[in-house]
Amino acid sequence: MPNSELAEMVETTDEWIRERTGIAERRIAAPEETTCSLAVNAARAALDKAGVAPEDVDLVLVATCTPDYSNMPATASLVQNALGAPRAAAVDMNAVCSGFIYALATGSQFIMTGAYRNVLVIGAEVFTRILDWQDRSTCVLFGDGAGAVVLQPTDEPGGLVSFKLGSDGAGACSLYVPAGGSRQPPTAETVAERAHYVKMMGKDVFRFATRVLPESVVEALAAASLTTDDLDLLIPHQANTRIIDHAVRRLKVPAESVFSNVERYGNTSAASIPVALCEAVDEGLVWPGATVVLSGFGAGLSWGTVVWRWH
Ligand code: ACO
Repeated sequence: MPNSELAEMVETTDEWIRERTGIAERRIAAPEETTCSLAVNAARAALDKAGVAPEDVDLVLVATCTPDYSNMPATASLVQNALGAPRAAAVDMNAVCSGFIYALATGSQFIMTGAYRNVLVIGAEVFTRILDWQDRSTCVLFGDGAGAVVLQPTDEPGGLVSFKLGSDGAGACSLYVPAGGSRQPPTAETVAERAHYVKMMGKDVFRFATRVLPESVVEALAAASLTTDDLDLLIPHQANTRIIDHAVRRLKVPAESVFSNVERYGNTSAASIPVALCEAVDEGLVWPGATVVLSGFGAGLSWGTVVWRWH
């Protein structure tokens, strides 16, 4: 969906959206698609690339804030069944836009302890289903997508080098969906009030994101006795070009070391980092030995950065 189509739905312009966000278009899942179906497609592609059969998967982690069912079961269980991965444990992780980073750090622990040999980590969202298409301050920002990776043990040095995860629940209402949970169960009134859609205090989130992204990258690198000079590629959560540009300036890293595809997808929440990572790999921007830093931030408020040595 290009910006021009949104301009027919709400009072906005292609120019405003590009200037404030860097977004030109976003993908909207077809009606028959769900978070599970997008996750399964991404997972199959990752398993094919890794040469791993679904039967050999030990754990399926699905990072999402738009699960197929709002309470139960976990989308990860649906994915595990659809893939045909009978041995796999399955659980969702919801840290919203930081979800993939939390899931990557968690999945890595199972590999590092030797408990599991094949961990599938997926970020998947149909975020557009929780958007208020009458609210121009949010509906222009988000899109749908899914990305996945397979984690495995190896004798070669590399993989997860360090991570930093964080949360500040005091900012919970800066970005949230008021109704539909146990605090405010669905009623005819909550539907009429459009309380099942995302509400966001844009300026608060902007301030939070521009502070936490550079801080968290520096802290995660420092935890591995590294600095930004050691960074080969930074893949930030793809929320907004202005947030990314701000981080680039604060971190003083060359713009070419920072990956961005937000122009084509908008903010796909937990899917944004794995989708960007897969594109960076396909574009040859990640090579054996490269130090790749993945950094997410979002509702919670939550944030997380992992430093990864690629091989
Ligand atoms: N088109 C045209 N005008 C708009 C639009 C729009 N789509 N949206 C808002 N406006 C108007 C506002 O109504 C306001 O008008 P007014 O001055 O007459 O009141 C004006 O534009 C300025 O609005 P602001 O909210 O002050 O605009 P701002 O410069 O702060 O930009 C934005 C808004 C882009 C949302 C910015 O605050 C931002 O990027 N915030 C971070 C959002 C984000 O990235 N969230 C997700 C991160 S976490 C996660 O991924 C879940």
